[in-house]
Amino acid sequence: MIDLDELEPRRARRRGYRGLMPDNTQVSPFWLAGRPATGDGEIVVTHPYDGRVIGAASVPTDAQVEEAVAAAHAVRAEAAALPLHVRAEALAHVARRLAERSEEIARLITGENGKPLLWARGEVGRAISVFRFAAEETRRWSGHAQRLDTDPAAAGRLAYVSRVPHGPVLAVTPFNFPLNLTAHKVAPAIAVGAPVVVKPAPATPLSALVLGEILAETELPAGMVSVLPVPNDRAAGLVDDPRLPVVSFTGSGPVGWMIKERVPRKHVTLELGGNAAAVVCADADLDHAAARIGLFSNYQAGQSCIAVQRVYVAREVYDAFTPRLVAAVEGLVTGDPWDDATQVGPLISAEAAERVQAWVDEAAAAGAEVLTGGTRDGAAYAPTVLADVPAGAKVACEEVFGPVLLVQPFDGLDEAFALVNDSRYGLQAGVFTRSLDVAFRAHRELEVGGVIIGDVPSYRADQMPYGGVKESGIGREGLRSAMEDYTYEKVMVLTGLAL
Ligand code: SIN
Repeated sequence: MIDLDELEPRRARRRGYRGLMPDNTQVSPFWLAGRPATGDGEIVVTHPYDGRVIGAASVPTDAQVEEAVAAAHAVRAEAAALPLHVRAEALAHVARRLAERSEEIARLITGENGKPLLWARGEVGRAISVFRFAAEETRRWSGHAQRLDTDPAAAGRLAYVSRVPHGPVLAVTPFNFPLNLTAHKVAPAIAVGAPVVVKPAPATPLSALVLGEILAETELPAGMVSVLPVPNDRAAGLVDDPRLPVVSFTGSGPVGWMIKERVPRKHVTLELGGNAAAVVCADADLDHAAARIGLFSNYQAGQSCIAVQRVYVAREVYDAFTPRLVAAVEGLVTGDPWDDATQVGPLISAEAAERVQAWVDEAAAAGAEVLTGGTRDGAAYAPTVLADVPAGAKVACEEVFGPVLLVQPFDGLDEAFALVNDSRYGLQAGVFTRSLDVAFRAHRELEVGGVIIGDVPSYRADQMPYGGVKESGIGREGLRSAMEDYTYEKVMVLTGLAL
């Protein structure tokens, strides 16, 4: 054990605190095949808002990683054969315990990630739903029968079709939703009876470790769940390990595609980035669109794969809409993430905010107009609206992952949809319209995994299919979809039946 008070930066000591931070001055153990363990090093976790140390995670040795993977491999048949009620009860237990500990866990998320309590509480609420949905889906997880006597050669034959796990899952999770995006990988694995080894993001391992602790309270067999805060430079061994035939990764595009190329024979699911667009049609409720876009360009300081980044507005309402959007952005409450009223807090690090600043500066130097924002204070970047952004600027064509949006007029839907599709990415898009014809056309023509009508692309219901096309990824999450993704269809044919 180390005493983290020894490590706490002097700057944070000076600020003083109001007892709101997680009281985590010990090193959190990791979860090795369902039991707590400590290794030979620590990841120290600091608070992005002021650099204060808020905790640390013990780091497993190579031998402990090997033990966890071997345990997952060894338990795979037992896991796949677990009665559905055992899996469902374990998932329901996690939902209950997350609810009981919700405020503590929300504070842990705010501490390690810096997102305002508003969003951290929302994240815990979503994770509770994810485990509840998974418990419900588990109870519906039946195979189906298919009569084969549609063909004379198969008279008296019946196929029983069920889905079985590919095998143990390696879940590599990101910093931006450290609890809920871990839940989205762990819950469906348990639901289908697949062991899972979690590698949380090094910046934010603590909430995943609490999830490991809660999972260890269940009746699931030892070996079914491990949570290993392994540094990124040691993750390749896990990715390569043939005993983990499924890799489910959420994170940056370059890392995700590198994984896919590295293990082409594995079942790889990638939830990667995007530069999500919102289209504001002339028939839209402009106040509603401005309020939603302003908020969901900046929620979590823009650090969501579906944060609004590009806003295309019908030219006939552009002059009416843009001041409303700027006012909505300027009305956001920024600052201290521990304040209940704060809507926009810091980014994950000062380096991340510096990159956002560099991209905005690049756009401005190339002729973009900064309508509001454009300033940085440490890890905080002011909510920013840009107009006249040149097409090649990074803020237009890359994923900003920061509180920045660009606004641009369009003439006609052909142009609007062409602008949305003019991207390497395709995760979700939002279309503000009252027309069902436009809605169905958007659904047909936009090259994305999901189209949200009357709202921002940032809308995600945790039970619906979620994932991208183009460079935004492969595969789908959402409970039922992830359960299908982790499994393959297996057929048993019964013969000689009187059907
Ligand atoms: C993501 O950023 O990939 C996930 C967004 C969400 O779950 O809301």
